[in-house]
Amino acid sequence: MKRKIILYVATSLDGFIARKNKKVDWLDTYNNTGEDYGYPAFYAGMGTIIIGNTTYQQFKEPYQGKKVYVFSRKNKGKKGNIQFVSGDIKKFMEDYKPEGNIWLVGGADLAHQFLEHNLIDEFIITIMPTLLGEGIPLFQGKDTEKQLKLLKTKSYKSGVMQLHYRKN
Ligand SMILES: NC(=O)c1ccc[n+]([C@@H]2O[C@H](COP(=O)([O-])OP(=O)(O)OC[C@H]3O[C@@H](n4cnc5c(N)ncnc54)[C@H](OP(=O)(O)O)[C@@H]3O)[C@@H](O)[C@H]2O)c1
Repeated sequence: MKRKIILYVATSLDGFIARKNKKVDWLDTYNNTGEDYGYPAFYAGMGTIIIGNTTYQQFKEPYQGKKVYVFSRKNKGKKGNIQFVSGDIKKFMEDYKPEGNIWLVGGADLAHQFLEHNLIDEFIITIMPTLLGEGIPLFQGKDTEKQLKLLKTKSYKSGVMQLHYRKN
């Protein structure tokens, strides 16, 4: 089976992944409903994690058992399973040849660069029934118009809706 790059993110109904101050506290309500939103199965299927440094520094998740590439211009080097990388996304993919399915965690800055290079194979977008009004938009770029193919939708009692698309 071909390796896939999957953007798996949670957004507000109005398309934000975080508040302007970077906080994601509005997600807590939906994390405490007893639903797992398919996350454990998704995570188990991933070999590699790719994440922007802003998001990485905020949560410092260890992602044990996965190979993790953190994009950063400030931080360099490698510690355990965490490796800092930088530069052009396409060149990174050619140089490092990341293994297994790849969870592109985000944030928006990094996701946009993968989108520009048409490197995102699937999008799993979990939409929370919250209107934030302002924040960090998931999709913020120009010249990234795409037509996607719907693979699956799932609704949850909490009002959360999960959309699963692949690139055409
Ligand atoms: N709701 C969700 O599912 C979800 C998911 C992910 C993130 N988030 C939220 O999104 C916010 C962060 O998103 P963001 O768009 O501001 O930032 P981001 O994409 O997480 O990280 C941006 C940083 O990554 C590094 N970077 C990006 N491209 C690079 C490249 N080509 N080469 C080298 N370094 C590169 C730079 O780090 P340096 O400054 O180190 O150079 C840049 O400042 C946070 O609030 C987080 O909580 C939400």
